Amino acid sequence: MTIITKRAALTACAFATLSLSATAALAQQTIVIKFSHVVANDTPKGKGAERFKELAEKATHGRVKVEVYPNSTLYKDKEELEALQLGSVQMLAPSLAKFGPLGAKEFEVFDLPYIFPNMTVLKRVTEGPIGQGLFQKLESKGIKGLAYWDNGMKVMTANRPLHKVADFRALKMRIQSSKVLDEQFRALKANPQVLAFSEVYQAMQTGVVDGSENTPSNVYTQKMHEVQSNLTVSDHGYIGYAVIVNKKFWEALPADVRSQLEGAMKEATVYANTIAQKENDDALAAIKASGKTKVYTLSEEEKAEWRRALLPVHKSMASRVGQDLIDAIYKESEAAGVRMN
Ligand code: LMR
Repeated sequence: MTIITKRAALTACAFATLSLSATAALAQQTIVIKFSHVVANDTPKGKGAERFKELAEKATHGRVKVEVYPNSTLYKDKEELEALQLGSVQMLAPSLAKFGPLGAKEFEVFDLPYIFPNMTVLKRVTEGPIGQGLFQKLESKGIKGLAYWDNGMKVMTANRPLHKVADFRALKMRIQSSKVLDEQFRALKANPQVLAFSEVYQAMQTGVVDGSENTPSNVYTQKMHEVQSNLTVSDHGYIGYAVIVNKKFWEALPADVRSQLEGAMKEATVYANTIAQKENDDALAAIKASGKTKVYTLSEEEKAEWRRALLPVHKSMASRVGQDLIDAIYKESEAAGVRMN
């Protein structure tokens, strides 16, 4: 070997070593997942996020660090979706009622009053082809859906008793950014008003809104029951979440890390969905025990009146969420032994 070729070989060798160690160093760099959400830590979603952090960091042996930002500390409802698309955060779990402004209005099917007769039907939807089909719709927006997490059934709150449909007349009711929820309250002759979750407590306190709907765990952890005199257990609708990630970020992860994270998400999902009902039952019990708001459960006749007033929303919103999708959910109900209409 001449001196020149020897030198060239040495340089090539040095380069190879350098790029190998650079790749190795890159592969060893900590990957940070910022997980932003709007509710308290002490809720089904808050606990699910914390459990995912724990499982993900363990499964990746610390290669991935999950930073959870609860209570809108990083972003509010609408901003967090924009931040995810821009890659400023990597993971969110917005309520299914918040995908409309993103252009994925089909998700609002989950907001239709009384669409899920029980949790068995809901699980058939989220864990089957319907749930996967909805996730597909997010891909063109640069978002990947990983899991569905439960919160639970909604209660109504206001500064007056809400027993009959007529009790809603002219009330200013805070809603999430869903046209289906808007229509739901219009069917009750109330005035719906979209507000970010982080603004609800103050809006109630100052009279900007008269009332709202939410799960007991959200009402309790945000102290809404302290600024609402009445709460009605109505079970008229559901709140759940889609855990989503920035698609580019997710697909650029080393394959082994991605599969470890998928495993952690699977486990965190089982955990979150297992605790959700009890979290809400405990929150309702704590609201009752606080004595700050009067808790009322609808009678069978009152329930029937609400249903009569609200079921037409399925028809009036079919053009928005898709009649096919509604029919597919009815079919799941029938397959589970429940007739819808
Ligand atoms: C809301 O009312 O905005 C929520 O349901 C918030 C949440 O993420 O549970």
